[in-house]
Amino acid sequence: MAKPITAFTCTACGASHRKWAGRCDACGAWNTIIEEAPLSQGPGRGLGTLKGKPIPLSGLATQDAPPRRATSGIAELDRVLGGGLVPGSAILVGGDPGIGKSTLLLQAAAAFARAGQQAIYVSGEEASAQVRLRAQRLGLGDAPVRLGAETALRDILTTLDAERPDVAVIDSIQTLWSDRIEAAPGSVAQVRASAHELVTFAKRRGTSVILVGHVTKEGQIAGPRVVEHMVDTVLYFEGERGHQFRILRAHKNRFGPADEIGVFEMTGGGLAEVANPSALFLSERGEASAGSAVFAGIEGTRPVLTEVQALVAPSTLASPRRTVVGLDSGRVSTILAVLEARCAVPFAGLDVFLNVAGGMRVSEPAADLAIAAALLSAREDVALPPEAVLFGEISLSGALRPVAQAENRLKEAQKLGFSRAILPSATKVEGVAGMRIDRIADLTSFVGETFGA
Ligand code: TYD
Ligand code: MG
Repeated sequence: MAKPITAFTCTACGASHRKWAGRCDACGAWNTIIEEAPLSQGPGRGLGTLKGKPIPLSGLATQDAPPRRATSGIAELDRVLGGGLVPGSAILVGGDPGIGKSTLLLQAAAAFARAGQQAIYVSGEEASAQVRLRAQRLGLGDAPVRLGAETALRDILTTLDAERPDVAVIDSIQTLWSDRIEAAPGSVAQVRASAHELVTFAKRRGTSVILVGHVTKEGQIAGPRVVEHMVDTVLYFEGERGHQFRILRAHKNRFGPADEIGVFEMTGGGLAEVANPSALFLSERGEASAGSAVFAGIEGTRPVLTEVQALVAPSTLASPRRTVVGLDSGRVSTILAVLEARCAVPFAGLDVFLNVAGGMRVSEPAADLAIAAALLSAREDVALPPEAVLFGEISLSGALRPVAQAENRLKEAQKLGFSRAILPSATKVEGVAGMRIDRIADLTSFVGETFGA
């Protein structure tokens, strides 16, 4: 008999290895490779009997119209899903423990049930009585959603097959165990097998399956990067623990735009929708102060204004601090280098702290100009005009590049009471009533005009 092949799997990225190593060559993580039970090498190699016949693409036209999306009525959720839940789709919702995934999905299950969908919420982490208590606290005690407390995958699939719900929430994928695999719940093999069976079930039965996945401190869905490939949609639920704002962000979506966001506020009665996030993110803004710049950004299909805050202080360290929250630190380093090399504004010997107010995360390159403005304003201790918003990408030469959707950004700024915009001169925009537009060609002229340097 052939010796069973032992598999070693990286718990961070799911890559399999022939032998154990301290570091995974696939993702570079240390101490993440574990030994897993071998996959059974049963029969079924070789060619199978041809079961399905390929059909021509044009033949699809004669089939039924595409299934209608189910909407929950929670607008922030429906938009991130791309306009509602596609029947038979598999969705992964990832997030840090305690961020509010169970709360969000219990509310979503109840909302789908109230909208006429058959919804089931299966918890592997809490007993049904605890889930019911939570539902009562959230004012959902009377929603026609069915609850289950189960971790055995076979039992879950049997129940789902008997009940045939439209929507099934599985909280969480890490608690499931399949009796086909000899590995502990939460291990890569278990998570992969459970997710695979649930995704297959979703496709076969037309049930939309929403899987909850905890994220490790490195920001990956624990163990299984592999699950991300299996599902149709990956959503991340993020936010800072200390803030009440939570952002549901589409990371991948086969049925809608990626990088769409939904904004929620965690209240005593659960998650409340935030219909106007710009107003919320700017609500903490006080008097005009040095180091603060308002960025007119676009998140998915929606303009969102955020405040970039900078603090620059003399450093006592040999290599000064660069602390960045909510922005890409690589981009910040590039902007600091451009300011030094092209505009002769040195930051050597200075600690730099940057932050986006409200716990928001901004990844658009269009934020470059606002970041540079906040840094300069903090360094010179001169406040930027409080009625102005900024946007524009900075190139390595110090030139400013125009960004997309300038008009939407301007309209949102105008709606929130701003009357001036500072943007790259090549921006194609007609102008918006009541907005003064300052066009600048490069970072050097911006430094000169705004700070008189
Ligand atoms: P939870 O949904 O259990 O998080 P996850 O499933 O992502 O681990 O949320 C837990 C946190 O949410 C907990 O710290 C308390 C807070 N919370 C509220 O502030 N208000 C509420 O109505 C509820 C249900 C939870
Ligand atoms: Mg939970």
